[in-house]
Amino acid sequence: MKILHLDSSVTGEKSVSRSLTAIAAERLKSQYPDAEYIYRDLVNETLRHYTAVLRIYGDNVEQTTPEQKQEFALGKQILEEFLSADIVLVGAPMYNLSVPSQLKAWIDHIVVPGVTFKYGAKGAEGQCGGKRVIILSTRGGQYGPGTSSEPYDFQEKYMRAIFGFLGVQDVTVITAEGIARGPEIAAAAIAGAKAAIANLS
Ligand SMILES: Cc1cc2nc3c(=O)[nH]c(=O)nc-3n(C[C@H](O)[C@H](O)[C@H](O)COP(=O)(O)O)c2cc1C
Repeated sequence: MKILHLDSSVTGEKSVSRSLTAIAAERLKSQYPDAEYIYRDLVNETLRHYTAVLRIYGDNVEQTTPEQKQEFALGKQILEEFLSADIVLVGAPMYNLSVPSQLKAWIDHIVVPGVTFKYGAKGAEGQCGGKRVIILSTRGGQYGPGTSSEPYDFQEKYMRAIFGFLGVQDVTVITAEGIARGPEIAAAAIAGAKAAIANLS
């Protein structure tokens, strides 16, 4: 059993998503005491945007510059971490209607044709069916079903879509939204998310 925990909020100690993923990580560790636990802070150790060399040619191209060698080695490590993880815990705040670019850079490293998805007769076929993904979503506004902002949710819907594209069927999204709507709404949202984390089974 391997647990991969990612954080992508830039707000440091004030971060709501970081505080929630920390609680969720403790919950998972207590449920799986023998699990190997890997933590990656995508802000403190930001991944470079990949280049065409890594994405298109992969192993087949000679890595010439030190930057290419470094990018390729780290990209392989990121991919291996994801491939070997049974549970992936992701802190995914909404920034500018989508996810932080640091998280997007990580996603770009794990969506790899021929590895995490393949094109078959029916189109793209995800290869990551055995994994469980838990997403801690935080956002200042409210984007739930029926709200006027719902069409602007390119964060949770994107996260569900990209892991679905990779074939992950077991995706849990825990949301704390309305964080910027005043202290009462924020407190209720965070309490709701904590309760959902406590019920993770
Ligand atoms: C750079 C930035 C962009 C943001 N963009 C949005 C946004 O588009 N919609 C929204 O509802 N909240 C937005 N917010 C508010 C955050 O989603 C909210 O503060 C949430 O708690 C962020 O998670 P964090 O506390 O873990 O950083 C933004 C916050 C920051 C810092």
